[in-house]
Amino acid sequence: MDFLGKKAVLIGGSGGIGREIALGLAGAGADLTVHGGSRSPRFDSLMEDIAALGPRRGDGPRSMVFRITPDVDALLSSPVYAAVASADILCVCFGPFLQAPLHETSPEDWERIVFCNYTLPGILVSASLPGMMERAWGRILLFGGTGTQEAAASRTNPCYAGAKTGLSSLVKSVAAEYAPRGITCNALLPGFTDTEYLTAEERDALARKIPGGSLIRPRQIAEAALFVLGHPEINGALVNIDKGWKS
Ligand SMILES: NC(=O)c1ccc[n+]([C@@H]2O[C@H](COP(=O)([O-])OP(=O)(O)OC[C@H]3O[C@@H](n4cnc5c(N)ncnc54)[C@H](OP(=O)(O)O)[C@@H]3O)[C@@H](O)[C@H]2O)c1
Repeated sequence: MDFLGKKAVLIGGSGGIGREIALGLAGAGADLTVHGGSRSPRFDSLMEDIAALGPRRGDGPRSMVFRITPDVDALLSSPVYAAVASADILCVCFGPFLQAPLHETSPEDWERIVFCNYTLPGILVSASLPGMMERAWGRILLFGGTGTQEAAASRTNPCYAGAKTGLSSLVKSVAAEYAPRGITCNALLPGFTDTEYLTAEERDALARKIPGGSLIRPRQIAEAALFVLGHPEINGALVNIDKGWKS
């Protein structure tokens, strides 16, 4: 896989699944801009690891910190919005989870979860498309939830699942309309993944739910991400990476 000279922007690339994708893209020569929600030693050491991965065209890697809230005006004046306009590769990894039945989901929950998991990727996709169309080349990778490839009931996380299911429609719409322009759009739909954001108790509880009893590793998701990004014939795909749990 060779992305030498391609500008990649990763939203939520400083941690979790996004972090592994950032390292994978850097290894493939991409010129990276990595976004995170906070400046931390973990983020700094990731940027050092990326810089050590070797020469690339461009002046990267660059990092940017911007705390995302459900505020369109703040997003439009943020470095995140400015960066995606020149992206060849856009990965929107950030997507907060909410486990709550509908009768316990507040208006603020609805606003935050739908904004972060649907409105935000939608705005960033729209902002990235004109540049990609001009260059006749673009790769967009989004993240669904477990089993959100089609409308289905969710008893445990209906707000999050609804937003992520909408995202599946967005993926198909982009692929259908922009494939002739050299642009692909796909989504990975992970099962429970072993990120640094989980506590030991959460890790154990989630592992018991997933087939085989072990969580998916971020690197496994990143390998699938690199494969999808590197194959333009894959377009409009919703790829379950959940060991068959919700496939
Ligand atoms: N992990 C799973 O088991 C799982 C399962 C199914 C689907 N998914 C989906 O896969 C994608 C990646 O998930 P993930 O587990 O890697 O974690 P994530 O929490 O969605 O993303 C982590 C990244 O987002 C940043 N971030 C967190 N809160 C932020 C905020 N308010 N504003 C700006 N940036 C913020 C983090 O930076 P900081 O570290 O600085 O906060 C980090 O870079 C998501 O879309 C998720 O919905 C995940």
